[in-house]
Amino acid sequence: MAALLARAVAACRPPAPFEPSEAPFWDDPHIAVGLLAAHLDETVPAASRPGAELDRAVAALAARGLAGPGVRVLDLGCGPGLLAVRLARLGCRVTGVDLSASSLDHARRAAAAEGLEIDYRRADFRELADVARYDVVLQSYGEMSTFAPEVRDDLLARVRRALVPGGAFVFDASRPRHHPPRGRRWEASPGGFWRPGPHLVLEERFVTPGPDGTQVACDQYVVVDAGADGGGGRVTTYRMWFHDHTPESLTAVLTAAGFAVEEVSGSLAGDPVTDDGEWLAVVARTA
Ligand SMILES: C[S@@+](CC[C@H](N)C(=O)[O-])C[C@H]1O[C@@H](n2cnc3c(N)ncnc32)[C@H](O)[C@@H]1O
Repeated sequence: MAALLARAVAACRPPAPFEPSEAPFWDDPHIAVGLLAAHLDETVPAASRPGAELDRAVAALAARGLAGPGVRVLDLGCGPGLLAVRLARLGCRVTGVDLSASSLDHARRAAAAEGLEIDYRRADFRELADVARYDVVLQSYGEMSTFAPEVRDDLLARVRRALVPGGAFVFDASRPRHHPPRGRRWEASPGGFWRPGPHLVLEERFVTPGPDGTQVACDQYVVVDAGADGGGGRVTTYRMWFHDHTPESLTAVLTAAGFAVEEVSGSLAGDPVTDDGEWLAVVARTA
């Protein structure tokens, strides 16, 4: 017990910049089940946006000519396919990539139920290796914000390679006000989102201001449970990183990566950027 407590206390420290989690999150078999439920629950905006917002986003893409019959779309981090299925209904030829087997199972079943042909692949999109295959690459709900700058820039290079000349990268990203400083939280659970059995969750947000109004935030979750053998106990730290941007800083990142920024708005539906907004959305073309 003393050793377990010492490990838990030691884990509750500020992380090094972009220090990774100690265990998989998106593709952990137990966590993935809770995540899928969150994706599909209209009242839980933690994993996917509500259907009405997704409808507006897809309508905005169609109005710009970025969705419609024959448009080849790659959806990076497609989750259970909530956007993919909407795009396929418009006649897009959709490829969806995700790490989560549970989400992809749901996505495949939902597409089959409507007779839609969507190419779903279980893969890490950071290893994207397609060349000049897509008219549009889409990433929705902030995943672009979650990487260290060097990982993000490598992914941007891969996205650029995957697009045809003049193709569009469309994504959204969080702004600093999406991650305000907040106090520590804890949870004592008999079994729930993080673990099937009893566990404690010690949660803390670390926020570091960056240059020009950007910030880096980390939501750190220290999960204490009985461990695989039910014996000595286990401490596992998960870290969710967010590099929150401004319109100017995001434009600079994309320009440096060889994209021409066509529009920065406040949402994938093309809402205006407002002072109190929490999100940015970008349409950028391969130059
Ligand atoms: C916040 S959810 C958004 C899901 C979907 N884009 C939407 O808007 O409904 C992020 C998704 O990205 C997936 N994901 C995260 N990192 C990934 C990676 N490196 N490769 C593939 N998928 C990833 C997760 O499994 C999850 O389904």
